[in-house]
Order: sequence, then C-alpha cells, then structure tokens
Amino acid sequence: MTKPTDSNRVVIFDTTLRDGEQSPGATMTHDEKLEIAQMLDEMGVDVIEAGFPIASEGDFAAVAEIAKNAKNATICGLARANFKDIDRCWDAVRHAKSPRIHTFIGTSPLHRAIPNLTKDEMAERIHDTVTHARNLCDNVQWSPMDATRTEWDYLARVVEIAIRAGATTINIPDTVGYTAPNESADLIRRLIAEVPGADEVIFATHCHNDLGMATANSLAAVEGGARQIECTINGLGERAGNTALEEVVMALKVRHDIMPFTTGVDSTRLMAISRRVASVSGFPVQFNKAIVGKNAFAHESGIHQDGMLKNAETFEIMRPEDVGLTETSLVMGKHSGRAALRSKLKELGYTLADNQLADVFVRFKALADRKKEIYDEDLIALMQDEERSGEDRIKVESLRVTCGTGGPAEAQLTLTIDGKPVSSEATGDGPVDAAFNAVKALVSHSARLQLYQVSAVTEGTDAQATVTVRLEEAGRIVSGQSADTDTVVASVRAYVNALNRLMMRREKAGSDAREISYKDAG
Ligand code: KIV
Ligand code: ZN
Repeated sequence: MTKPTDSNRVVIFDTTLRDGEQSPGATMTHDEKLEIAQMLDEMGVDVIEAGFPIASEGDFAAVAEIAKNAKNATICGLARANFKDIDRCWDAVRHAKSPRIHTFIGTSPLHRAIPNLTKDEMAERIHDTVTHARNLCDNVQWSPMDATRTEWDYLARVVEIAIRAGATTINIPDTVGYTAPNESADLIRRLIAEVPGADEVIFATHCHNDLGMATANSLAAVEGGARQIECTINGLGERAGNTALEEVVMALKVRHDIMPFTTGVDSTRLMAISRRVASVSGFPVQFNKAIVGKNAFAHESGIHQDGMLKNAETFEIMRPEDVGLTETSLVMGKHSGRAALRSKLKELGYTLADNQLADVFVRFKALADRKKEIYDEDLIALMQDEERSGEDRIKVESLRVTCGTGGPAEAQLTLTIDGKPVSSEATGDGPVDAAFNAVKALVSHSARLQLYQVSAVTEGTDAQATVTVRLEEAGRIVSGQSADTDTVVASVRAYVNALNRLMMRREKAGSDAREISYKDAG
C-alpha cells in the first residue's frame, strides 16, 4: 500500500483477528477467522491484521488463507523483532495481492528490560530487523510497543532508524491505555515535525481503552497528523480492549464538520459484523455500547418517544440504517414455509444449500412451536447456534430438570461424545447448577467457570435466552454460547460448546510445539 494521495483519507487497520483474538477467551476457529476477514474485506477496511503467524500452526494457516482470499484489503501479519518471526510472517502474508509485515519491539524502559538490551543494542536490532523485513516486502509497518511511555529522545531516535531502514508505516502504540487526547495529538505532531524522513511515511495510532479514552485518543492522533487508525470490531481486545472500529468510523462520518477526514468503510455493514464478532468471540456487546449496542438507538422514555415521533433528529445524531440496523421485523411464524425461510435467511446474509436448509428448517419449526413470533434476531441466534455446533465432538441430546421449592434441583442429561450416547443424573443449587453438575459427571475436566451470562434475544417471557459461558483451564480461556427459549437448555449447550472449544485448544496445544505470546521478549 502506498501513501494515500488524499491527505484527509484515514487508513482503517483492523486488528480484531490479532489484538482482538489475543484477548483471553476470544479465540476463534479457523473458519470463523476466514469469515470475519471476508466481512472486513467486503466492508472496505484497508488493512486486516490477520494474526501472528509464528504463534502457532493454526495462526499461520489462518493468515495464509486470509491472504489468499482477500480481494481488496492489504493483509498484514505480526512479527517480533527477530528474523525467524519475520520470515514466518512473510511466508504467510506473501500470498496476498497486497501483503504487509508488521514488526515490533517494546521500547519503553520497562519493556527494554525484558530482552535485557541496552538502548544501543535495541537500536541496532530495530535497524537490522526492519531492513530484513523490507528486503522481503515493500510494505513494512514498525511499532515501538509502549511508545507512550518511552522517553521522547529515544522514541524519536528509533522512529528515525526504522524510517531509514525502510518502514513505510510507523505505528505509535499506547499499549497500556495510558495516554490522553491532547498528549496523543502532540506526540504524533511532534514526531512528524522533528523526525527526519517522517513526511515520507504514514503515522498510525494504536490505542488501548484502559482509561476509556481509546477512541478519543485515536481521533486526537489523527488531528495531530496520524493517517492510520488501528482498531477492532466492538473494541475487542485484552483488558478493556482496543479502539472500537465502529466508533472511529462513525465519529469521522457524523462529525465531518469538525474532523474533515474520510475512511473507506461502508458503515451500513457495522451492525452485522459486530453481531458476528460478538458471537464467534463469545464477548457479548454491552447494551449501552456506542453505535452497536442494543440500546444505542432505543428511545424508551416517554419524552424521547414523543420527540422522536415528531422529528427523528430530536434525539438521533445518526440514523439506525447508517450502521445497518434495519427495523426489526416480525418475520415468521409456525406456518411459514421453507421458501420463505430461505428468502429471509438470504436477506440476513445466510445463503444455504438444500441440505443445510432442511436442517435449519427443522430447528426453525421447533422454535416456532415454542415461540409465537419469530424475529430477525431469533433467526440470527438460531443460525449462529447451528454454525457453532457443527463440528462439536460433544453434543446435547436431551435434558430434563426438576426444580422449585422444597428440595435441590435435579437434572437428567444425555450427551453424545464422539457419537456415543452417555447419561447422568445430578442435583444442584438451582436448575443451572444441577445441569452443569450433570455435564461434569460425563465430561471430566478441571476447567473453572469464569463467566456465566444470560441475555434475552428479544422481548417477552418466551424470548430466546443467549447464554455465554467462559471457562479457564491451565491458563487457557475459552468461551461458549448458545440460544434457546429454555434458559437451562441454552446454558447447558453453551457450557458444552465451551468444553468442545477447550478440547480443540488442548489438541491444538499438543500439536503446536509451543504456544507463543507476543509479549515474549522481542
Ligand atoms: O498494544 C500494542 O502495543 C500492540 C503492538 C504489538 C502493536 O498490540
Ligand atoms: Zn495492542
């Protein structure tokens, strides 16, 4: 990618599949990564950071396949500051029409102490590794990790070295979410003004949200001269997450009057990708999340509703359709046929082969028997469940629970494990506890339940419940999800979904020689 000729064009660099996926518990499968990458590519994201190829065989394979499939976006991989990482990264991204190597090293005093390098030794390492990357690929991004806590003189020195060695994008990460908007703008402004060669590269901003300022800091960096924002869908990322893509894209669109910058992102696709990332990562979107939260366009109070009916602009600064939120429609009921289901699913972005449609139709009928009115959201939840359970080794066959006053809850459960039915009975403190105990009796594991969360897909007491379960075992964190009109059934399916993912992770860890963290020494 060459430097855009339009000086007000901001490059959107999405790192959902790298920094987002790195968030404990947000691990995605290979196919899920390909699907998200395709959605990002289609919605006009300029650069997709598809993973960290040296981290595992799985990461490498995903980055390589995403690189082969990408139609428009530049495909980038992450590499630490050593030749082996960079070579592996290049092997994965070189398949792309437009490949990029992103190499980084921690430059702040705390990070310099990890590989125990002096300032001079680190400077030499930066020169050598960026030169090596540039010899492989003509699009090289370099990041001084923890830049916002790096001494100014040293930061300016190493940025200059990276530019001279051939970096085409210089990314300035606020790794720990420490900076504030005025500081973020000043830092970029000063680097551009004082570092020789700065006018020949693009400066990028990469903010974390620990103090809730990631979006403000990214936009301020753009005011200061940055022309690439690094961000993730739903702000997914470690700790408090990264800058949310949907927030910066909509802020630049809605407040174009005071921030006259453009992006190439089609904002009408934001809602669909937000839902999909929430589903595959197992990180639900908070209800009041800006732009993509369930309440972002809901006007419940009487005063608001009155104003809205008279003129939508009274309380709305953007239209729901600008972010791809269509009016929720009552779609179907138990008399709807297969053709109607096919066409509705197509409208929602799911194109199914005949055999797939037949399976989904059975589940749709079962849902319609229990729930009078089926909304778009119900169908999306049903499709997501269908996709999640596809390759699962453990499946829920049947569940009966007795609960109420006068004694412990009792659960009878049948699962199939690798196709073989197994049953158990268990009691517990309430229906969910009893049902989970029945699962534990059949699938022995030492995983600890980190999160159990329930939310309603639509309104009413017959609404489907979406349940998220997050488990931790020996440092591995996985999430599972499921939706059903019966909250206990959804809970057990979500638990089993998480256990399936845990088994996959165990197998993957066994086949990879080692699992590497990007925080390992440069
Ligand atoms: O937050 C960070 O510093 C990073 C780097 C690897 C760019 O994600
Ligand atoms: Zn980061």
